[in-house]
Amino acid sequence: MQTSKDWLQYFSNNLQQKRIDWSVQPSITNEALKPILKSIQAWQLGETSDGSNLINVCTRYAKKINDPCYIGAMRLFIKEEQKHGNNLGRYLDLVGKARIKKNWGDSLFRKARHINTSMQWFTLAVITVESAAQIFYQCLKDATDCKLLQQICTDILIDEAPHIQFQQQRLQAIIKLQRNSNKWLSITLYKMFFYCTALVIWVAHKNVFKAGDVNFKKYSMKMKSKYDKTIGRLDAGDILSDKKELVPVYYKNKHGFFDALYYSFQGMCLFFQFERNGKIQLVIAAATIAAAALLGISAAEWITVLVCVGMVIGMEMLNSALEQLCNKVESGYDPVIKAVKDIAAGAVLFASIISIAIGVIIFLPKLLQVA
Ligand SMILES: [Fe+2]
Ligand SMILES: [Fe+2]
Repeated sequence: MQTSKDWLQYFSNNLQQKRIDWSVQPSITNEALKPILKSIQAWQLGETSDGSNLINVCTRYAKKINDPCYIGAMRLFIKEEQKHGNNLGRYLDLVGKARIKKNWGDSLFRKARHINTSMQWFTLAVITVESAAQIFYQCLKDATDCKLLQQICTDILIDEAPHIQFQQQRLQAIIKLQRNSNKWLSITLYKMFFYCTALVIWVAHKNVFKAGDVNFKKYSMKMKSKYDKTIGRLDAGDILSDKKELVPVYYKNKHGFFDALYYSFQGMCLFFQFERNGKIQLVIAAATIAAAALLGISAAEWITVLVCVGMVIGMEMLNSALEQLCNKVESGYDPVIKAVKDIAAGAVLFASIISIAIGVIIFLPKLLQVA
């Protein structure tokens, strides 16, 4: 694993490399440019970000771990990304196309970067985007006959592999300092973030991927292989040994069927007795069932209503259990724990919205008839 000083040295040397021959004129027709233009414009905008938020977070982090060289290395990393943006911009100028100022994907990432104050999430986001970028630029290179555009893509591809290595080593260092219980949560959330972001990038740039002969299946397989080589490798040794320890503990603690039934019943009582939302939902469920009985709904409608009641209360129970676990693992503020709690609460909200919509479909016509 390289030190920040090593990376500083690497980036300083790499920035001196001039791999593009700008005397070569672009040779691309408007027809060939059409399906890839929007993506080139979007990546050009994304690569030219000033990185100020990343530098602020990185400066705080470097002070905390007492590694001033890391700030310098990160500044040069951002400079290298801006070089990619400038080269793509210069290409757009040469082919007479505009550099865009706004794009939905870029705005989404900028907003996420603005809210984020954690080094680990910045690092994860960079690994994810860089992994997709490697596939994107290879596809762009394969999709065009323009020698100049091919040179630009090659230059970016040469830079991207060390970029991922730089960020992967940092994420490895960050996760090493976390407690084992936090590590599990973090890696699960990393995985979700990685694949959700990969999907967004596919939707936004599928024309270029397809032009480079990469369909969704190939793209997914390539992203999985990149995940396995980066985030999948984080502390693999520790995680495997945790897994080995967990298996015997789980089997040792197994109870008989009636014990399990008793504990499940106890869990239900705890939920309805102590959880405010449990009490509210119990009242709503009782009112819904009473209304269904009064309005004389059909058998199929009864099944739908009962599934909805079960889904919302079941989700709320899981949400409460997860919340208890999170509070036990981390009593103070932790961005990962916050995300876990928010997602679990979001699951309840999602189930509730669907149930309300179903309730309106079933009950509204009957209520109107009564009125
Ligand atoms: Fe880049
Ligand atoms: Fe990069």
